[in-house]
Amino acid sequence: MKKVLLLGGAGFIGFSIAKNLAEKGGYKITIADNFFRAGGKIDFLLQSLVDEHDIRIVSGDFTKSNYFLELEKDYDYVYMLASVVGVDYVNEMPHEIIRINTALIYNTLEWLRSSKCGKVVFTSTSECYAGTVEAFDYQIPTAEEVPLTIQDITHPRFTYAVTKMLGESGFIQYANKLGFECTIVRYHNVYGQRMGFKHVIPHLAQRFLNGENPFKIYGADQTRAFNHIDDAVNGTVLAMEKGGNGEIYHIGTQEEITIKELIQYTGELMGFKGEYIDAPTYPGSVARRCPDISKAKKDLGYQPKVSWKDGLKSTINWYVDYLDKNKDLHESFYDNKKSK
Ligand SMILES: NC(=O)c1ccc[n+]([C@@H]2O[C@H](COP(=O)([O-])OP(=O)(O)OC[C@H]3O[C@@H](n4cnc5c(N)ncnc54)[C@H](O)[C@@H]3O)[C@@H](O)[C@H]2O)c1
Repeated sequence: MKKVLLLGGAGFIGFSIAKNLAEKGGYKITIADNFFRAGGKIDFLLQSLVDEHDIRIVSGDFTKSNYFLELEKDYDYVYMLASVVGVDYVNEMPHEIIRINTALIYNTLEWLRSSKCGKVVFTSTSECYAGTVEAFDYQIPTAEEVPLTIQDITHPRFTYAVTKMLGESGFIQYANKLGFECTIVRYHNVYGQRMGFKHVIPHLAQRFLNGENPFKIYGADQTRAFNHIDDAVNGTVLAMEKGGNGEIYHIGTQEEITIKELIQYTGELMGFKGEYIDAPTYPGSVARRCPDISKAKKDLGYQPKVSWKDGLKSTINWYVDYLDKNKDLHESFYDNKKSK
């Protein structure tokens, strides 16, 4: 049995990694989280996973180093996913993004110093190079060796990327000096079931259900390559089990589509018969994003399998079903303000 710790494992990606490992078997799993994203408590999907697979939960705010004393000291694998994520949080509380994400990174690194863990995967983001692509017209699809750029250090939106750059450097340098292994994954627009209602796809589902018409398409010509959660999980687990020490991998897909295509197909799935109109997107949002995933394919055997249309269809179905079944639940699940 491999001993696995998922820091931030109650979140969107962490939950799906835990589920994947639990269903495969051969892992003894611990999830450490403060349930910030789920309104401070364990949601019923996580609770049933925990009950079914005997997963240990360590509940606490890991910006406080004392909670690390409740962890074991000899995990084979540590997935470091804990972070405050999301455009709204970045704009509303950039100082808290700096404090929380930096403290989570620093405390984890110092805990690793006094532990005997085997390997860590630190989860980073395409946001670290968004500035490079915009300011220097850098190549798209974009590979791992791209220089990282903060276009405007005074702007709140870059606080998240600043903390992820610190994390990439911090984990690589601590691993080199302290004798554990570390691999970095940079995610690119991961989507799927149970991701929270603030993300673009569930938010679209809600807007269609609310009857918006004409339906506004913000940033119609912008492109993204949406990475289904099942593929992102596979990529992350492969990075843990096969990724080189100190290596960085772009985890995503190269199926680049426009926001207009995404929205119009979502509308089709939801039976929308109204009008669409173009609208401006939020400032600082990059015009194009698409990772070069050749390195992950070559080194890890990573191969995304879910096409954007299939993934979108199953995700939209999941949200419509979820919203329908949970109309009367006294459950605040992932920022769904409609819940009582
Ligand atoms: N979802 C994406 O498309 C995407 C893209 C790029 C990078 N990432 C990175 O991947 C990781 C996982 O992303 P996600 O989408 O699952 O995000 P998420 O917000 O769903 O998960 C993060 C988890 O960290 C926990 N957390 C926050 N503050 C904490 C604290 N003080 N103590 C303990 N736990 C705390 C949250 O409660 C949450 O469960 C994050 O580090 C994120 O930055 C995600």
